[in-house]
Amino acid sequence: MENKELVIAIDGPAGAGKSTIAKMVAEKLGYAYIDTGAMYRAVTYKFLQMHIPFDEEIVGKVADEIDITFKPQDGLNMVFVDGTDVTEEIRSSEVTNNVSKLSAVSAVRSAMVNLQRKMGENGGVVMDGRDIGTVVFPNADVKIYLTASVEERVSRRYNELVNKNQSVDKVKLSEEIIARDKYDSEREISPLRCAEDAFYLDTSIMDKPEVVNKILDICRVK
Ligand code: DC
Repeated sequence: MENKELVIAIDGPAGAGKSTIAKMVAEKLGYAYIDTGAMYRAVTYKFLQMHIPFDEEIVGKVADEIDITFKPQDGLNMVFVDGTDVTEEIRSSEVTNNVSKLSAVSAVRSAMVNLQRKMGENGGVVMDGRDIGTVVFPNADVKIYLTASVEERVSRRYNELVNKNQSVDKVKLSEEIIARDKYDSEREISPLRCAEDAFYLDTSIMDKPEVVNKILDICRVK
């Protein structure tokens, strides 16, 4: 592991803790962390700002032209769209409720996949998403499929939002997560699935350090 800068792919359903875990693993290894969900959210945010009805062609154009940058700051992964900080905005419920639809558009996926491949071409990255081990980096050095029971994922997301002082309806949150999982796994292009050679990690009864250590152990033998 010392000499080689790995590509570490972490996929899984909504609320599995992918970004928290991916960020911790990246910090431990001194790697860059790429949150690909934030990229699809950024495209969705930019499109919603146009206040026009959904149109595949325009959405594809937005994805082709968008400038997305990440900047780690105070433990936060800041996200900029065309130079403007949208870190908070891309987590709004409006973006969350539209992102699955936009990310199923073929032109959006190819634009994002191209960017993601460029970001990871030299290794030294931990990338999380839905199709990293299956489509973006099918030859990734380490592939993890991170999941947890729906109840556990809902409860984690609920606590996360409550800690941010946001008011949340747990039943609605559960419905949203189930709907997003369904949409993301049943879409035609690059659906969410566990790659055949991925390490399947159910974290329902694991705490964060345990999960991080498990992934680091897997990296160590690479
Ligand atoms: O990880 P997240 O919840 O922030 O992702 C938001 C959405 O983006 C998710 O519902 C599906 C989509 N997505 C995707 O299609 N492919 C990825 N690699 C990452 C996210």
